[in-house]
Amino acid sequence: MSAADPQRRAWLKAGALLPLVPATLASPAARAAAAPAPGPAPASSVAAIASLPARPAGTPQQVAADEAYWRQIAAQYDITNEVTMLDNAFWGSMSRPVLAAYERHVEEVNRGNSFYGRTQFPPAFGALRRRAAQALGVAQDEIVFTRGATEALQILISGYNRLRPGDAVLCADIDYDNMLTVMHWLKQRRGVEVVRIAMPEPVTYQSVIDSYAQAMARYPKLKMMLLTHVNHRNGMVLPVAEISRMARERGIDAIVDTAHGFGQLDMRIPDLQADFVGINLHKWIGAPIGVGAVYIRKGRVRDIDPYLGEQEGDDIRTRVHTGTFNFAAYLTLPLALDLHEQVGVAYKQARLARLRARWLDAVRDVPGLQLLASDDPRLCSAIASFRLRGRTSIADNVALARRLLKEHGIFTVERDGLAAGACVRATPSIFTSEAEVDRLGAALRKIAA
Ligand SMILES: Cc1ncc(COP(=O)(O)O)c(C=O)c1O
Repeated sequence: MSAADPQRRAWLKAGALLPLVPATLASPAARAAAAPAPGPAPASSVAAIASLPARPAGTPQQVAADEAYWRQIAAQYDITNEVTMLDNAFWGSMSRPVLAAYERHVEEVNRGNSFYGRTQFPPAFGALRRRAAQALGVAQDEIVFTRGATEALQILISGYNRLRPGDAVLCADIDYDNMLTVMHWLKQRRGVEVVRIAMPEPVTYQSVIDSYAQAMARYPKLKMMLLTHVNHRNGMVLPVAEISRMARERGIDAIVDTAHGFGQLDMRIPDLQADFVGINLHKWIGAPIGVGAVYIRKGRVRDIDPYLGEQEGDDIRTRVHTGTFNFAAYLTLPLALDLHEQVGVAYKQARLARLRARWLDAVRDVPGLQLLASDDPRLCSAIASFRLRGRTSIADNVALARRLLKEHGIFTVERDGLAAGACVRATPSIFTSEAEVDRLGAALRKIAA
């Protein structure tokens, strides 16, 4: 039956598909929707949660300074000691209990094959969708899973169908490479002008907001903008809610990339004040690789095209079609969320801020070093970048990252694309020790001298 089949459309519209077929034969989506609310956590999850070290009393800032507690958290991870690992923004390693659960789910799926996939997986998938929605702070029918933020944002940007030839869209030098590619493709796809702005350097909270406000004033035909919540080049946190609100007042929609925001910062999706959001769950939540999500605020689904001929309508699940996916990765998500919440995102954020500030403070007085990192807590994430003063080429920064690795055993990564030039990015994680970030500070002092 094709998606365009009028009978299927009528059934779906009338909600008639569910009662017409037995639960085991209905589509996975239909059975997932009919699944009961998530039951009590399985014994293995309860045990994993119980195995976490108890968080000491105190504010997030006080707990962030408790190195002994964070060493206990680090013991939950198996991380290479071949290098000092300071590139934790690519994806987030799973903790040992999450990895063990993932391995169990791989076995379960492999053993059960399609019998499992067609009978037990759909209700489990429905339950874990509800769990994810709860963690994100949204309704379950406002999210649909993807394999990551890239897929989520490609669907939102390419599918946003309110653009007409002659309209304009806005992006910035801090946005992610592939998202910029898709934004630029809109010229060909929708006949729009693509406006690209650059963030000021050094940056302040107000100067960032002003950059977007000026662009909105200068380009009255703007209809949509991409906002990157935490960018992967210098880690700046964009004041997304303020900018989205300003945009909405002018009838401009924001599509938000929170690949690095959710899970790292103490926020939920509605805090972004945007109707369209691409989310990653395999970075700062530490779910297995291959888990992300699209959020579309209720009532806005029709503004995103159905996925390649899928059914029109308000069901967000018709906006993504990935085919057979990694069941085990999704099945592991609830435990990853449980453990994330057990540690507490406010505590994670405070710990990451402390580690970032520690290495930055150690090198602030080094004249040969340029830090791409504001002190304003509203703009700070775990990620921060640097370059040797005046060395803005990508080759310079590849060389700097290589020196850090070869001479000091510190693994970082060069990043290109900022209008002001390339840089090297350093990103601690919650398993990073103060001694490790101190190593970065000492190495940079030596190199810059
Ligand atoms: C800002 C930003 N957006 C989107 C993505 C894409 O995420 P993924 O590759 O997990 O789909 C990344 C990846 O690093 C990113 O840093």
